[in-house]
Amino acid sequence: MSATRATAHSPRPRSRSAVIDVASVTKTYAMGDVAVHALRGVSLRIERGDLVAVMGSSGSGKSTLMNILGCLDAPSRGRYLLDGVDVRAFDDDELADIRNRKIGFVFQSFNLVPRTRTLANVELPLAYAGVARGERRRRALAALETVGMGDRLEHLPSELSGGQQQRVAIARAIVTNPPLLLADEPTGNLDSHSTHDVLDLFSDLNASGRTIVLITHEPDVAARAKRVVRLADGRVVEDRRVAAVRARAPRERAA
Ligand SMILES: Nc1ncnc2c1ncn2[C@@H]1O[C@H](COP(=O)(O)OP(=O)(O)OP(=O)(O)O)[C@@H](O)[C@H]1O
Ligand SMILES: [Mg+2]
Repeated sequence: MSATRATAHSPRPRSRSAVIDVASVTKTYAMGDVAVHALRGVSLRIERGDLVAVMGSSGSGKSTLMNILGCLDAPSRGRYLLDGVDVRAFDDDELADIRNRKIGFVFQSFNLVPRTRTLANVELPLAYAGVARGERRRRALAALETVGMGDRLEHLPSELSGGQQQRVAIARAIVTNPPLLLADEPTGNLDSHSTHDVLDLFSDLNASGRTIVLITHEPDVAARAKRVVRLADGRVVEDRRVAAVRARAPRERAA
């Protein structure tokens, strides 16, 4: 197991409450002779229990930042502590391991495994983590109950609506019980009704202690966050606290 390795890399968290601590992070892509500066020095601390919306126009660096927060990509410069752990020196195996333990991902296009039933889709991260079959099933069922999909266990993704697929994807993201959920435009492909369902779900997950960072273009979605961070041209240009970290997320006013 990875216990020894994890201990070696995680002495004492620098700050107990920061799940994300990014300092002066830059990301530069070399495109032939041209350097594309996707991030130009981003510093961001996100406390445990926060619900943060990241906004900004297309090309402002949102996905680049999310990929770094999710340990899917490394910064060109700067430092990133995930749950107190500096991931800079990690190799690919160690990054995969910390991703699996600490982060649940939700994507705009759901990314469920095709031709695979709901229950098996949600069990997948547990299978990677080496969890035994019975325990896998029990936890996948519980996650699916949490998202209101306990009655669609045998459906294939193609037999589910977009909103239902996204709820299954959220069940898959929370089944390992990670402290951090990262979502890149999770409601981008959903109608307003499903958007509302998914946002309620995020609010509930946040209320039960999960830290959530979601990218969105939609002001309605950002209005449900506790904090709004806006990027422009690779920099943070706005960082607005909407509700206290410990408070319940703001609800949309009833129509
Ligand atoms: N792999 C890459 N190689 C080269 N340039 C990249 C790469 N990924 C992103 N970029 C560039 O970095 C900048 C930021 O891209 P990013 O995907 O982070 O934007 P975004 O804010 O997520 O936009 P959108 O809202 O359209 O998803 C853009 O100028 C983009 O062209
Ligand atoms: Mg993007």
